[in-house]
Amino acid sequence: MYVLALVTQKGGSGKSTLAVGLAVAAMENGERVALVEADPQGTIWRWKERRGDSYPRVDRVSDPAYIEPALARLKAEGTWLAIIDTAATTNAAALRAIARSDLCLIPARPSPADIEAAVPTLIAIRRLNRRFAFILNQTPARGGRLSEAATSLSSLGHLALPYVVQRNDHQDALGAGLGVTEYAPEGKAAEEMVAVWRWVLKKLVEGTVGHEQDAKQAAY
Ligand SMILES: Nc1ncnc2c1ncn2[C@@H]1O[C@H](COP(=O)(O)OP(=O)(O)OP(=O)(O)O)[C@@H](O)[C@H]1O
Ligand SMILES: [Mg+2]
Repeated sequence: MYVLALVTQKGGSGKSTLAVGLAVAAMENGERVALVEADPQGTIWRWKERRGDSYPRVDRVSDPAYIEPALARLKAEGTWLAIIDTAATTNAAALRAIARSDLCLIPARPSPADIEAAVPTLIAIRRLNRRFAFILNQTPARGGRLSEAATSLSSLGHLALPYVVQRNDHQDALGAGLGVTEYAPEGKAAEEMVAVWRWVLKKLVEGTVGHEQDAKQAAY
């Protein structure tokens, strides 16, 4: 089972939105996906209540110590991908999520201040020797040039692509209990989410050996 963690202590950067969007995009590709909500704020739990569909499964974890057992249970049940959404702090739950992840995704709005605000999270990731990528979110629709920070992240393979543009579909989908690819499948936001999911999938499987990832990559 792959574990993806959405982490950054910067609030409102898009952790929950991207967790949901990626989970649904992966599910639509036939993967068995679960969301693990390690944020007491409950954004994903409330999304699930609006959803009226039992998939993807959402597990709420009220104590950091329960993250590991929750993941073990999901793995035993045949889950292929668990996506952990964390709170906007480098707390014990976030650290456990990072420690247990195959890949950490760090959403950031495209400003130097927002990227800098992720540094404490990045330090924790490096200390725990985990793989990571930034994912620029809520970028302007008319893309400007890459910032210097984004350019160097990209050249190191630490920047998920494409950027996730600021689009109402993301907010409306969250409000409707849907993934953005379900809410407006033909829209630009959905197109970007599918493309980002492919990027993430490639990164996830790159770090592993065996036949499973070959089959998954062949699906594309
Ligand atoms: N690409 C986007 N386009 C438009 N709105 C977005 C986008 N990404 C996120 N949002 C909106 O920005 C707000 C913050 O997003 P979200 O709740 O996902 O961030 P978060 O990092 O989980 O926040 P918190 O740190 O509070 O948990 C929400 O209202 C969400 O709908
Ligand atoms: Mg959140």
